[in-house]
Amino acid sequence: MKEDQIIFKPIGTILSPHTDQNQTPIQPVYAQGIEGRIVVNAEFIDGLKDLQAFSHIYIFYHFNQSVKTKLLLKPFLEDKIHGVFATRAPHRPNKLGMSLVRLVRIEENIIYVKDLDVLDKTPLIDIKPYVKRFDSRDNVSSGWQDDVREEDAKKRGSGNFKL
Ligand SMILES: C[S@@+](CC[C@H](N)C(=O)[O-])C[C@H]1O[C@@H](n2cnc3c(N)ncnc32)[C@H](O)[C@@H]1O
Repeated sequence: MKEDQIIFKPIGTILSPHTDQNQTPIQPVYAQGIEGRIVVNAEFIDGLKDLQAFSHIYIFYHFNQSVKTKLLLKPFLEDKIHGVFATRAPHRPNKLGMSLVRLVRIEENIIYVKDLDVLDKTPLIDIKPYVKRFDSRDNVSSGWQDDVREEDAKKRGSGNFKL
């Protein structure tokens, strides 16, 4: 492997009802209740020990259906151009996605989740528990997102307004 390359091997697959990029909610917060399954490859099953006690997990995945990279783009929630790193857009140089989803239950190597904003058959790269002590922040600034009205975000974020 070259020093400037990182090779990830998927640890599983995300199964979801979303099959159309244009109809998929843009974040878990706009995908309330949408159920899916994360099938973890059998060789990693020991790594799931004790995960079921967490209410939320981060899933990291490959935006495998993103075919382009854009450093400047209009995000789903605003018609102004921003740098890709100031957005959560899929068309990034390294196509890494991250969603904070609700953990419902775990049966063997299958994690049942809710609030999915991910396309069906997306390759899973990692799972981490949401830990309030580590991850919650006060005095937050969300940049250009602070200018987007919540009612507009809800409408556009649900996925039906992307077309
Ligand atoms: C704005 S991104 C945000 C994803 C994630 N919550 C994040 O912050 O990284 C969500 C959009 O990515 C697209 N998407 C989801 N899964 C994808 C995949 N496997 N390949 C390409 N695009 C995908 C869908 O159009 C979805 O609406």
